[in-house]
Amino acid sequence: MKPAHVAIIMDGNGRWAEARGLPRRAGHRAGVEALRKAVRSVGELGVDWLTVYAFSSENWSRPRSEVNDLMGLLRLFIRRDLAELHQNGVRVRIVGDRENLEPDIKSLLLEAENLTAQNTAMNLVIAFNYGARDEILRAAKSLMRKVQSGEMEIDAVDFDTFGNHLDTAGIPDPDLIIRTSGEQRLSNFLLWQAAYAEFVFLPCHWPDFGREDLETAIATFSARERRFGGVGAREAAL
Ligand code: IPE
Ligand code: IPE
Ligand code: MG
Repeated sequence: MKPAHVAIIMDGNGRWAEARGLPRRAGHRAGVEALRKAVRSVGELGVDWLTVYAFSSENWSRPRSEVNDLMGLLRLFIRRDLAELHQNGVRVRIVGDRENLEPDIKSLLLEAENLTAQNTAMNLVIAFNYGARDEILRAAKSLMRKVQSGEMEIDAVDFDTFGNHLDTAGIPDPDLIIRTSGEQRLSNFLLWQAAYAEFVFLPCHWPDFGREDLETAIATFSARERRFGGVGAREAAL
């Protein structure tokens, strides 16, 4: 089966650049190019949802100049690509904490969501200033406030209620999570939503990620058996 939702940890921009004697910022620029291609390929392969990890809540600890480069690239991506994404029927959503982002970035993100809100061809979710622990904590706090004010009963909180208080409310859980660059960790990405995701780790750095890599990851996914805690199809038939 094809995944309905692919999420990607786009890692390795810095190492890609360093291997070429280039500054890290050149790697991030090349990474945006790879993102454009990935959105196109995901659409062509008929996958409905793509989530990309673009900036984590821990990435603020990088040198100021690199943080600025990454903020600049987000601005550039939205300004340059929004019209085309919209034309192609892509609905854009952003997950992460927007509170402390620059005002112009906040309005660009809102503009992208509003402009594309009615699109149905494909969904692009950008995780920006995103950290799963931060997201879970914010959801827990907003639920606690509702309980405190009497708007909600503690016992009424179930998985669905909790999920609906996360930034990803209304977004299906990822089926397949791909990480490039050879690292094998989640780095605070979608901890709640990844409960039953399949993982594929690829050795290539993100700027080198192309359509064949996506196809390989999807083929690997399709060959796996998901059990969700049950027994496999073979055992069930016995
Ligand atoms: C991914 O590439 C981009 C972001 C985290 C924003 P990195 O910048 O993490 O590249 P490496 O891991 O240092 O090679
Ligand atoms: C995860 O990559 C975040 C993004 C891809 C945006 P990092 O490069 O920040 O993760 P660590 O530091 O290697 O765990
Ligand atoms: Mg990295």
